[in-house]
Amino acid sequence: MTTLLQLNTSVFSEHGQSTQLAKSFVNSWQHQRPGSILIVRDLAINPVPHLNGERFEAFLTPAEQRSETQHEIVAYSDGLIEELKQADVIAIGLPLYNYGIPSSLQAYFDHIARADVTFKYSDNGSVGFLQNKRAVIFATRGGKYIGSNNESVTTQVRNFLKLLGITDVEFVYAEGLSIDANTREQELARARAVSAKLATLEDDG
Ligand SMILES: Cc1cc2nc3c(=O)[nH]c(=O)nc-3n(C[C@H](O)[C@H](O)[C@H](O)COP(=O)(O)O)c2cc1C
Repeated sequence: MTTLLQLNTSVFSEHGQSTQLAKSFVNSWQHQRPGSILIVRDLAINPVPHLNGERFEAFLTPAEQRSETQHEIVAYSDGLIEELKQADVIAIGLPLYNYGIPSSLQAYFDHIARADVTFKYSDNGSVGFLQNKRAVIFATRGGKYIGSNNESVTTQVRNFLKLLGITDVEFVYAEGLSIDANTREQELARARAVSAKLATLEDDG
């Protein structure tokens, strides 16, 4: 049985275009695999706090030396990590905001990248502890960037997931959504078709 984690990062929550695409993928997945479990984390509804010195210090402090506040901070991060560990498949909505990933997603990333908990450094580079997971990223944007130098979020997200050990990563793009209604509908329909294909049993790999 599969466990899916749907991560909504749009400021528009469930109404976001990226959220809608992630949802259509998850629906197709569940339709074909009755009994699969879905966890939805919506970062607009439940934002992860920005990382600051106090929070990072808590991560670095040995468990037996942590204050009560530090225990709470670490427990919160541990909870996010546990949820991620449970997931076999992670569907992430990834709108482009001001040429970057949503700050809500950055805050989430900052709370799940924990040295010696989700990855470790080694002489041969970092080693991620979250193995055997698949991530499907639904990247929506108002303009068109694929193939240009203006597109950096794909590399950033791919590198970050690799740090954690997640290397089976697929991007589904819907671009030019702010150009006009026709382009938007065409792109979203195409992205939904790609998502449905990725959710098919044959594509389980
Ligand atoms: C705050 C904000 C910043 C945006 N910045 C960009 C941008 O830099 N480049 C771009 O092509 N589109 C930009 N857009 C358009 C969004 O990427 C596009 O509407 C996307 O589909 C939004 O996804 P969502 O509905 O899931 O939030 C921006 C939208 C918002 C709300």
